[in-house]
Amino acid sequence: MRSDLPGFHDLSLDERLSLVKKLCVLTDEEAETLRKTGCLPHSDRMIENVVGTIELPLGIATNFMINGHDVLVPMAIEEPSVVAAASHAAKLARPDGFVASSDEPVMIGQIQLIGAKPGASEKIYENRDKITEIAHAKDSVLVKLGGGLKDIEVRELDTERGKMVIVHLLVNVQDAMGANAVNTMCEEVAPFIEEITGGRALLKIISNLAVHRMTRAKAVWKKDVLGEDVIEGILDAYAFARADPFRSATHNKGIMNGVDAVLVATGNDFRAAEAGAHAFAAIGGYKPLTSYWKNGTGDLAGSIELPMVAGIVGGATKSNPIAKISLKILGAKHAHDLSEVAACVGLANNFAALRAMVKEGIQKGHMKLHMHNIALIAGATHEEALKITDIMLSEKKISVARAAELLEIMRK
Ligand code: MEV
Repeated sequence: MRSDLPGFHDLSLDERLSLVKKLCVLTDEEAETLRKTGCLPHSDRMIENVVGTIELPLGIATNFMINGHDVLVPMAIEEPSVVAAASHAAKLARPDGFVASSDEPVMIGQIQLIGAKPGASEKIYENRDKITEIAHAKDSVLVKLGGGLKDIEVRELDTERGKMVIVHLLVNVQDAMGANAVNTMCEEVAPFIEEITGGRALLKIISNLAVHRMTRAKAVWKKDVLGEDVIEGILDAYAFARADPFRSATHNKGIMNGVDAVLVATGNDFRAAEAGAHAFAAIGGYKPLTSYWKNGTGDLAGSIELPMVAGIVGGATKSNPIAKISLKILGAKHAHDLSEVAACVGLANNFAALRAMVKEGIQKGHMKLHMHNIALIAGATHEEALKITDIMLSEKKISVARAAELLEIMRK
C-alpha cells in the first residue's frame, strides 16, 4: 500500500472512505462505522481529508458548587473513573464548594525580529500608539467589546543564532480563545515594526504560555470528612510531587484529565491549554499545578493556578452542536466562567486521585468501573451489573464470558 494519494483532498467524503476501505481492506461494517458522522454532518468542512468522526462519551460531573452556585459540568473523556472522581471530590467539598477567579483574558502574541538595529526596543515603545492604531484597524468588533491591544513588551534574547528582539503584544481577546485575533494582529503590525527597527519579522504567532490569563481555584476538605490519616497522606503525596518531576508529571496529568475533559466537551483547543499548563509548571523547574496545606482548623486546603486558554466563541465552540449544548449546560456567559469551572474540575480530579491513592490505591475503583462496564457489555442492567461486579471482584475473574454466565445464573 502507498500513502501518497494525489487528489485525495479533492475527493468527496464517500470517495475518500471507499479508497481507504479498499487500500486498508476494511469490512463493509467498519467502513459504515467510520461513515457515521453523528452530530457533525459538516465534519469535512472542519478539517481536511475527512473519512468519518470518532465519538467520546459525554458525562456530567455533579455536586460542583463554584463561587456559591451549583453547576453541572459536561466532561468528554474516554477514561473511566474521571467523571465519578470529580463528582465525588466536589461532593466532599460541599457545602462551601470551590472559590475560583481569573485574570482578564489577555493573550500574548509574539513577533520575532531578526537583525534589528540597536535601539529597536526604544523605537517600539516610542511608537506604541501607532502600533495600537494599526493593530485595531482590522478588528473593530473586538475593540468595541472592550478588547484589543492593551500593552506591548519588548524582550532581547541571546540565541544560538544570535541576538533577537521579541515583541509581545498583550491582547485582551474577550470571550475567544484568541489565537485568530492575536495572530492577525501580529501579522498586521509586523511590517510597521520592521520599518522602525530595521529588523525582519519572522514568526508572528500567539504564545500558549498565557501568564496574563491565569485562573485560580481553591477548596477546603474538612478533617472530619477525610480523616487525619488521609490528610497526612495527601500532604506526603504532594511533597513527593514537589520534589520529583517524574511524579509531578503524573500529578499534573491527573489535573489535566479534568481540565481537558471540560475543554473537549465545550469544543475548545485542549492542546493549547495543555501546552500552557505544562510550560507554566516548568517555570523555575517542573512543579505541580496544585498546592495542598493544612489550614488553621486542621482541614485540608487545596488550590490550583494555571494559565487557561479557553473560549466560548469561535472555533468548534459554535460549529460543534454538542459543544454549544455543553456550554448551555454549564451556563457559561463568558470565557472566564468556563476557565474557572475547568480549573475547579482539575483540582477536584487531582484531589480525588491523591485521596484514592493514599487510601486504597487507584486500581480498586478503576477495576470496579471496568468490571461494571464488562457486565453491561454482557447485557446486564445497571443493578445486575453491580451484583456481577461484586462477584467478579471476589472471584478475581474478569471477562465478558464470566459476566454473561453470572447473568444467566442470576436470571434463572
Ligand atoms: C490517571 O489518569 C491519573 C493519575 O495517575 C493521576 C495521579 O497519579 O495523580 C491517577
